[in-house]
Amino acid sequence: MAMSKVLLALCKCILLVGLTKAIYSKMNEQTVNVIDYSMKNLTSMPIFQQNSTTDINLRGNLLQVVPALSFQQSKKLKSLDLSMNKLNLIERGAFEGLTELIYLSLRDNKLTSNSFHVGIFQDLISLQDLNIHLNFFSYEYTLILQSEISHLESLVRLGIDLRGQLQINKCFCKLSQLLDLELVGLRNYSDNLFQNSKLEVS
Ligand SMILES: *[C@@H]1O[C@H](CO)[C@@H](O)[C@H](O)[C@H]1NC(C)=O
Ligand SMILES: *[C@@H]1O[C@H](CO)[C@@H](O)[C@H](O)[C@H]1NC(C)=O
Ligand SMILES: *[C@@H]1O[C@H](CO)[C@@H](O)[C@H](O)[C@H]1NC(C)=O
Repeated sequence: MAMSKVLLALCKCILLVGLTKAIYSKMNEQTVNVIDYSMKNLTSMPIFQQNSTTDINLRGNLLQVVPALSFQQSKKLKSLDLSMNKLNLIERGAFEGLTELIYLSLRDNKLTSNSFHVGIFQDLISLQDLNIHLNFFSYEYTLILQSEISHLESLVRLGIDLRGQLQINKCFCKLSQLLDLELVGLRNYSDNLFQNSKLEVS
């Protein structure tokens, strides 16, 4: 009787240890997969070596440049938040290899006509959500930017500013998955620009 009680207690103990270990390693795995460097006053891009990272948050730093191949090791990346920095340059190949990326925010930076190259979004074949509000794109460049965006065929949600004389370009109508378009400052677009009748323009 006493023996079986001891055995039972022992079993419970082993079970508890096993359970704790499982929960711990799960948490550990999650903390490795999510890197939060938000609001740290970073002035240069950290080096990301974990190849299992799915989520990188760099919101609210002082970054000016996204160097080429910044996320080279992070092939599993699903979410990348670069909002509220001072970005004025995105080097060629900065987003190279991010074929699984679903969410990208470049909101509230200093991106202009000269900040990036043709093909910037080339590898982002899974991108569903792009926010590029609150930057400094000139009229001519907005058209090039729109052309780059038009290659993002998985895009569901897009936030972009089109101020003053800026117009939405025909090339957006290729975005057949687009359901949510958040435009700020748009003056002029035609209703039949999009093939997708489910699209909500807000
Ligand atoms: C970032 O810089 C600001 C202004 O210098 C300072 O007040 C703040 O404490 C800094 N934050 C961190 C995380 O270092
Ligand atoms: C990630 O890196 C580890 C060790 O460097 C390697 O064993 C593993 O195969 C890599 N996984 C992926 C998905 O590349
Ligand atoms: C909108 O654009 C069309 C064609 O470019 C032009 O005919 C029309 O006058 C414009 N409307 C406004 C309100 O600017």
